[in-house]
Amino acid sequence: MSAAPIPSSPPLDAYWMPFTANQRFKSNPELFARADGMYYYRADGSSVLDGIAGLWCVNAGHRCAPVVRAIQQTADELDYAPSFQMGHPIVFEYADALVEAAPGDLSHVFFSNSGSEAVDTALKIALAYHRARNEGHRYRLVGRERDYHGVGFGGLSVSGISGHRRPYGPLLPGVLHLPHTYDRGRMAYSRGQPDWGAELADALQRLLLLHDPSTVAAVIVEPVAGSTGVLVPPKDYLPRLREICDRHGILLIFDEVITGFGRIDGMLSCEYFGVLPDLVVSAKGLTNGAVPMGATFVRRPIYDAFMQSGGSGIELPHGYTYSGHPLAAAAGLAALRHYQENRLFARAQALAPRWEALAHAMQGEPHVVDVRNIGLLAAVELAPIEGKPGQRAQQAHKACLKEGCLIRASGDTMLLSPPLIIEDAQMEQLFSTLAKVLRAA
Ligand SMILES: Cc1ncc(COP(=O)(O)O)c(C=O)c1O
Repeated sequence: MSAAPIPSSPPLDAYWMPFTANQRFKSNPELFARADGMYYYRADGSSVLDGIAGLWCVNAGHRCAPVVRAIQQTADELDYAPSFQMGHPIVFEYADALVEAAPGDLSHVFFSNSGSEAVDTALKIALAYHRARNEGHRYRLVGRERDYHGVGFGGLSVSGISGHRRPYGPLLPGVLHLPHTYDRGRMAYSRGQPDWGAELADALQRLLLLHDPSTVAAVIVEPVAGSTGVLVPPKDYLPRLREICDRHGILLIFDEVITGFGRIDGMLSCEYFGVLPDLVVSAKGLTNGAVPMGATFVRRPIYDAFMQSGGSGIELPHGYTYSGHPLAAAAGLAALRHYQENRLFARAQALAPRWEALAHAMQGEPHVVDVRNIGLLAAVELAPIEGKPGQRAQQAHKACLKEGCLIRASGDTMLLSPPLIIEDAQMEQLFSTLAKVLRAA
């Protein structure tokens, strides 16, 4: 018996949509019925060029055939296997392939189901690591203004987006925040990493002196703050954070949920920035967005510290029912092989100069006050409409959709982060559509 087809205009009320103005959306819904390669398709057959890789995740393009096949075959063979005190072969094979591709001695990986869970896992590992080494006095975590680390209480506590934090009370105690790294007056229209600003990392040294470095467990940053507007780190900023953390025995965590899987350079971008963090958080492009999954990479000495301290019991009391789920592991393994066999990360690198040129050609278009780029990421920041922050970008987002392009709005910034399979004409289409929409606004 075949299931009844899903209607193309279903009832909208029951689903409480995440990070969405529900009432506004439901009064004028935008539903995608199908996707393929670079495009979404609506039920009426019209297409939308995907300029944001879904939500920064479909890096190999939609319905990537080997990933789809791996999910189908695995669902048919092993729908679920418990991950506590049991396992299944795919997840071990996948972990092995991932750490093989990871830089330095990032030798072990802990699986979860989202970026938020992978962040919380990293924070918990950092705290427990110090405790395992009799340094349980290290309880503070340091985040940064304008960074996004998901929505779990841990990740939210270190995140730096006030609107996300405000409804939820005091959050985790003992969290400190670094200043963000954006200064338009000094950085506007930088291509790639701005020359100015390495000294912003010294704010960490000042925070530590004020609060006693021996109380600090970890510093977490996005190498490039994605969601709040592609804030590219100044040259030497990240290495300087590394130096300061090393000086004080503090773990450095990179949240590479957006910056991984070819978005900037390679599977993880930390090598590009010349830094080896102690833990790296990943999600999104991991499975090409096809099955939810998060991954927290740790360096060997961290894993070893747990193995040496735990006797033969459970070394880390942490995990999820769906950690290393067979469908996610199969999708991740197929995605990794697909990225590697098709050299998609190198392809993105090769496209980056043209992407940069097209992005910066937006300078001088109406309302544009800055353009930022790195790898296959770009942000076009717009002057806000007076008294109505965010509205100019929302209007541009809607108008671009009408013109057949999906470009994300965050505050008054337009964000672009396409699948790595994008062709030259499609890159041109994204920016020329944005320019057209701004000229008409
Ligand atoms: C840098 C970063 N960290 C964490 C997250 C949270 O990931 P998820 O939405 O999968 O929980 C995101 C999501 O956009 C992100 O961009």
